[in-house]
Amino acid sequence: MKPIYLAGSAAAIIALAAVIYVVRAPSGSVSAGASASASEATLAQGQTLYQENCASCHGKSLAGQPNWREPDADGRLPAPPHDETGHTWHHPDSMLFDYTKFGGQATLAALEVELNSGMPAFAEQLTDDQIWSILAYIKSTWPARVHAAQAERTRADEDARNQ
Ligand code: HEC
Repeated sequence: MKPIYLAGSAAAIIALAAVIYVVRAPSGSVSAGASASASEATLAQGQTLYQENCASCHGKSLAGQPNWREPDADGRLPAPPHDETGHTWHHPDSMLFDYTKFGGQATLAALEVELNSGMPAFAEQLTDDQIWSILAYIKSTWPARVHAAQAERTRADEDARNQ
């Protein structure tokens, strides 16, 4: 039963991080970015950059790594899917952006959450615009229902920041 318990707690930490994130986001995060109306050129660029930078872990077709809910012996979670079966769409834009730019460890550390994250930082390899184009591409693969749910999270997150 132990692995199941661990997987549950790791998922809970990430869910908790998403909640804390709304309240105490790092000041450097950028919120205006990829929108539902991304141009075809942006989506094409995002797709290419996704295949070059992300597909090796998150999968060519965004399906993630096998058994992605189960941490390995070091407590690291495998790369989750970015399609609708994963939890990417549970997070607002600002968190997806920070996770990609600063990596999992730094993003969660800013929230005072300790997680041994296998998600690298891409600040050195990708510009902010390139990161937004990748996120726009990922979102373009979601069905309308999932797209709308994530847009709602993003709106709530932005409202919370503007208060
Ligand atoms: C070396 C493997 C690796 C590469 C390459 C990689 N990731 Fe990740 N990523 C991970 C792992 C492992 C996790 C899960 C651990 C965690 O959540 O901290 C993760 C988690 C994430 C998350 C947070 C979880 C979620 O579903 O929202 C986002 C967002 C993300 N990655 C985006 C990207 C993007 C965009 C790229 C390409 C620019 C990328 N990743 C490239 C390994 C990788």
